Amino acid sequence: MTLQIRSFEAYQRVYARSVADPEGFWAEQAHTFQWRKPWRQVLKWNFREPRVKWFVGGRLNITENCLDRHLEKRGRQTALIWEPNNPSRKARKITYRQLHGLVCQFANALKAQGVKKGDRICIYMPMTPELAVAVLACARLGAIHSVVFAGFSAVSLADRIKDAQVKVVLTSDYNARGAKNIAVKQIVDEALTLGCDTVERVIVHQNTGDPVVMQEGRDMWWHDVIKGKRKQCKPTIVDSEDMLFILYTSGSTGKPKGVVHTHGGYMVYTEFTFRNVFQYEEGDVYWCTADIGWVTGHSYIVYGPLLAGATTVMFEGVPTYPDAGRFWDVIQRHKVNIFYTAPTAIRALMAAGDQWIKGRRMPSLRVLGTVGEPINEEAWQWYHERVGKKRCPIVDTWWQTETGGILITPLAGITPLKPCYASYPFPGIQPCLVDANGKELEGDGVEGMLCIKFPWPSILRTTFGDHERCRQTYFATFKDKYFTGDGARRDAGGIYRIIGRVDDVINVSGHRIGTAEIEDAINKSPNVVESAVVGYPHDIKGQGIYAYIITSGPVADIASFRKNVLDTVTREIGPIAKPDKIQVVPGLPKTRSGKIMRRILRKIAEGDTSNLGDTSTLLNPEVVDDIQQGSKSL
Ligand code: PRX
Repeated sequence: MTLQIRSFEAYQRVYARSVADPEGFWAEQAHTFQWRKPWRQVLKWNFREPRVKWFVGGRLNITENCLDRHLEKRGRQTALIWEPNNPSRKARKITYRQLHGLVCQFANALKAQGVKKGDRICIYMPMTPELAVAVLACARLGAIHSVVFAGFSAVSLADRIKDAQVKVVLTSDYNARGAKNIAVKQIVDEALTLGCDTVERVIVHQNTGDPVVMQEGRDMWWHDVIKGKRKQCKPTIVDSEDMLFILYTSGSTGKPKGVVHTHGGYMVYTEFTFRNVFQYEEGDVYWCTADIGWVTGHSYIVYGPLLAGATTVMFEGVPTYPDAGRFWDVIQRHKVNIFYTAPTAIRALMAAGDQWIKGRRMPSLRVLGTVGEPINEEAWQWYHERVGKKRCPIVDTWWQTETGGILITPLAGITPLKPCYASYPFPGIQPCLVDANGKELEGDGVEGMLCIKFPWPSILRTTFGDHERCRQTYFATFKDKYFTGDGARRDAGGIYRIIGRVDDVINVSGHRIGTAEIEDAINKSPNVVESAVVGYPHDIKGQGIYAYIITSGPVADIASFRKNVLDTVTREIGPIAKPDKIQVVPGLPKTRSGKIMRRILRKIAEGDTSNLGDTSTLLNPEVVDDIQQGSKSL
């Protein structure tokens, strides 16, 4: 087992050691795992190119560590509990031995379809156990998975398939979410008409059993491809630095980029953080409510918990179906000990009213966690009092797709808690705050841009197919530092509070979306000339999407114009990117060089027009008044 930190003093000691001797420290953690060949060197790095390699020369397969390594001791222990969308259906429990068999069998099926090491496999599936099996089967063969959240549109899916030059797409017939039945396979069909020439095969898992159209020669059923396949499959042994997965995420500019993680470092970091952050104890039932389409699901539903030999719950549905008591039902039914969710879900359940949680006893709960966006104090207190009955520590875990695992966080029951503070850096993490000139801010009571000065094992290695973009985005803003895109403050004792993004990325219900992406989509809508999108505070979603739109002429029917815009955004990106507010404006405030002054638009969207700053340098200062007037009537 990797090191288990049991007290705050131990944390302080371990942290100091991890900074003084990072290589020695991480080598100790890595020794726990099964390596087929030891590494020659622990770390090789520079943030200039950037080039980061952990456990150089080591060879392994991550699934051997998630599955095979546990068989002797916990073959009969439940690895995965699947809670279906429909509460009257029975939950499915899969032991480590069964999961091993399912993964091997599907890996053999993929192999028979010609999948080999290095091939890219796109997984566009709902939250069924087969999604986890698909992820692990790819890793078993050294194939690179690219999971795309099954709420993205055909256009977004096609972009991701093309960028990664995907060979095989894995999908399901339908996605049962709440009262909806989403035609996932049909979305794949549509995506594949959009120039995805590299795709040779589509494998379809039968989930709901409703009818779908299968394309002869291209599409095959999951149950057919696994027929007769053995439940043993030798893992493909890969290099520590071979790619494990690509996961697309949004940034300030351009299309989403494919963040790349590799086998060795990611394995060591996700297991170590999982056990220490949540203070996982042997036999605990752990539930993370994220979707595997996001990094939280990769690291803390699949890899981290399985590497630690835990029992991980996978939930197919939504928090409010059939009612707002569903989460608490699932916790009671499966005797969940550790519960990890997003602030947006907490706020939505809090808003649904206390009747759904009142009188519920959830004695199994020991640890609560949040992730994905800043948590406001009211939601934190409600979570602490109503869900945790004031006896469960809350770990507010800050991290990103690019970081692979949790970087700033309390350790449950060990770190003194302060609401809304992600608190201390995890061992091995060296954060700093810098000002706009890149000058490091010293001491406490300071606010700045959050950077990390030293690599950790699960830092991103590149952005797929475009290393220069990786350098530009994360390593060029501040010399020799990884720039997170977040602003933060550091208070007495060195605890961190994450404020939010400082770039043109907004965080809607914990989903990260680039404003430029939404603008591009809106601009494809009829009669739209130009648009500017900003975030504004939203009670449930954290941030809402506010779109200012210039049209090509007067809008006669605002309702149908709105509908067109929303439909276009849904078609181009997906429902998560639909603007909450749309304002038709005569112009957008621009500098003399033609740049949109987003600062002003943000202030208006926030309803804070007391101090718009100096607008006299604008090319068109007169539009500001017009926009302000129009915004009041929204
Ligand atoms: O702004 C931060 C916010 O989510 C961003 C990362 O989004 P993504 O890559 O989609 O990963 C989300 C899940 C790890 C960050 O740049 N964020 C994440 N966790 C927190 C947070 N903001 C405040 N507090 C957090 N605990």
